[in-house]
Amino acid sequence: MLNRDEVIEQYRLVDRVSPWLRVNFVSSLDGAATHDGLSGGLGNDDDRLVFDTLRMLSDVIVVGAGTVRAEGYGGVRLSDSDAAWRVDAGLPPQPRVAIVSSRLDISPEHPFFTEAAVTDADGRPIVITHAASPADRRAALGEVAEVLVCGEAAVDCGVMSEALAERGLTQVLCEGGPHLFGTLIDADRVDELCLTLSPVLENGSAGRIARGGAAASRSMKLMHALPAGDMLFLRYHRLRSHPAG
Ligand SMILES: NC(=O)c1ccc[n+]([C@@H]2O[C@H](COP(=O)([O-])OP(=O)(O)OC[C@H]3O[C@@H](n4cnc5c(N)ncnc54)[C@H](OP(=O)(O)O)[C@@H]3O)[C@@H](O)[C@H]2O)c1
Repeated sequence: MLNRDEVIEQYRLVDRVSPWLRVNFVSSLDGAATHDGLSGGLGNDDDRLVFDTLRMLSDVIVVGAGTVRAEGYGGVRLSDSDAAWRVDAGLPPQPRVAIVSSRLDISPEHPFFTEAAVTDADGRPIVITHAASPADRRAALGEVAEVLVCGEAAVDCGVMSEALAERGLTQVLCEGGPHLFGTLIDADRVDELCLTLSPVLENGSAGRIARGGAAASRSMKLMHALPAGDMLFLRYHRLRSHPAG
């Protein structure tokens, strides 16, 4: 079993001022991003600890609408001890949550909004979309979320990062899914990938962790490889100079 303090140390972000985009995924050994259509089937308690710690260390958790729809994603709320750790570190008790969507085919009644840990004006969920998304849906979601228009015909990842940083949300954790990850790779906006390798072969037709973008080859540097039983926790940085730890 991994130890919480060790995990915090391994993933701590040294520079919280410069914008930093970290992506977290779990994959089977043969590259599947899902088991029975969901990522949860690939994890275990150690993966949960890393997953929760990465949330605790972030300013905002960004997720694609496909993952929200597929996983019934919502109700992101840190444990009391993780919230207390953040307060001691000078952070708000809970990170913000943001959904990226073009179609905005999500109800204001979805748990992503109704079960958000913070719903007041300063901390409510964020909807990241673009100018060509349906205006009526933008208006409806504006009742329960802060809507950021980042780009003209698709979400521009650079504009998104700037808009989040303007709100003090520099430490971004992206929890997927594969299409959003593909978009981020396309735009060369991925600073870090935290990848859990789950000791299982899935075969079948499950997709891999990135898809949809143009072919690209972005070199990454291994920062650590943390084994826990048969599970392996990998942390990679994009190969370019950056002061973050
Ligand atoms: N293994 C893992 O760690 C992991 C992690 C997360 C998810 N998953 C799995 O991945 C699957 C979902 O995959 P997915 O690729 O559909 O999910 P996704 O990447 O979360 O969502 C794709 C959707 O996000 C929106 N989007 C992404 N990039 C955009 C951009 N640049 N501009 C505007 N909108 C953008 C679009 O939403 P609209 O359609 O609303 O326009 C798009 O259809 C699920 O089975 C889930 O379990 C696995």
